[in-house]
Amino acid sequence: MTQPHPVLTGYYGDAREREAFVRDLFDNGAADYDRINSIMSLGSGAWYRRRVLRNNGLVAGQRVLDIAVGTGLLAREAVRIVQADGLVVGLDPSFGMLQQARASLTLPMVQGRAEALPFADGSFDLVTMGYALRHMANFGSVFAEFRRVLKPGGRLLILEIARAENRFVQAAAMLWLGRIIPAVCGLMMPRRQGRLLMRYYWDTIEECVPAKTIEAELRASGFGDVHSTASLGVFREYVGVSRARG
Ligand SMILES: C[S@@+](CC[C@H](N)C(=O)[O-])C[C@H]1O[C@@H](n2cnc3c(N)ncnc32)[C@H](O)[C@@H]1O
Repeated sequence: MTQPHPVLTGYYGDAREREAFVRDLFDNGAADYDRINSIMSLGSGAWYRRRVLRNNGLVAGQRVLDIAVGTGLLAREAVRIVQADGLVVGLDPSFGMLQQARASLTLPMVQGRAEALPFADGSFDLVTMGYALRHMANFGSVFAEFRRVLKPGGRLLILEIARAENRFVQAAAMLWLGRIIPAVCGLMMPRRQGRLLMRYYWDTIEECVPAKTIEAELRASGFGDVHSTASLGVFREYVGVSRARG
C-alpha cells in the first residue's frame, strides 16, 4: 500500500507512532491553527476554498462530507454554498480541532478517521478533504472509503500543498512556508506547538510522493475523470468522480 511519505524519525519512532503524534500535534496546535492559516494565506484562505468548491460544481441542496474538518475552514465555505436545503458533515480525529470548529459552526461533526468512515454507502454528493492527505496511513484504504460513501457519480475533491514542478517556485515556497512562516509563528505564538505544526507541515510536503502517484492511486481505487491542477504552483486540487460499482 502506498504511503504519503516515509517514516519521519525526527518526529516519531515508527509508522505505528505516527497516528498518535499527528493527533497530539493537532490537539495541541488547535488554538493557533486559524491564526497560522490566516498569516500563511495572507487572508485569502476562505476566498480560495469557496472558489474551489464552486469550480467543482458544488451547488445549493447538496450533501457534503468534509473529512479532516479541523477548525472548519473548508466546511464553513461549503455551508454557505449548499444553504439550508443541503447538508455538510465534518469528521476529524482531533478533539482539540473539533472543539474549535464547534465554537463557531453548528453542523454535525463526528470524531473519527478517514480510514474508517462511520457513514452508510452512497450518502454524499461531494467528499472534500483539505490539507490532510499527507496524514493518512495509506492511500488505498482511504480512497476506498471515500468512494464507498459517495453516491455513484459523486465527486471527490482533495486540496493539498504539493512540491512545485518549477524549481524557482519551489524555492520561493520553501522560503515562505518552510522558513518565514515557522519563524513568524515562533515570534507571534509563545506556545511551542504552532512552530512544531509548521515545521512538520513543511517536512511532510517535502517528503510527499508526487501528484502523479496520487492520481494513479485514485484511478486504481475506482475514480474516473481523475486530474489535478495547481494554483501558484503548490496549491494542488485533486479531483475524481466515483464510478458506479459493476
Ligand atoms: C491542516 S488541518 C486541515 C483542516 C481543514 N481541512 C482546513 O482546510 O483548514 C489537518 C486536519 O487533518 C486531521 N487528520 C489527521 N489525520 C487524519 C485522519 N487519519 N483522518 C481524518 N482527519 C485526519 C487533523 O486532525 C487536522 O484537523
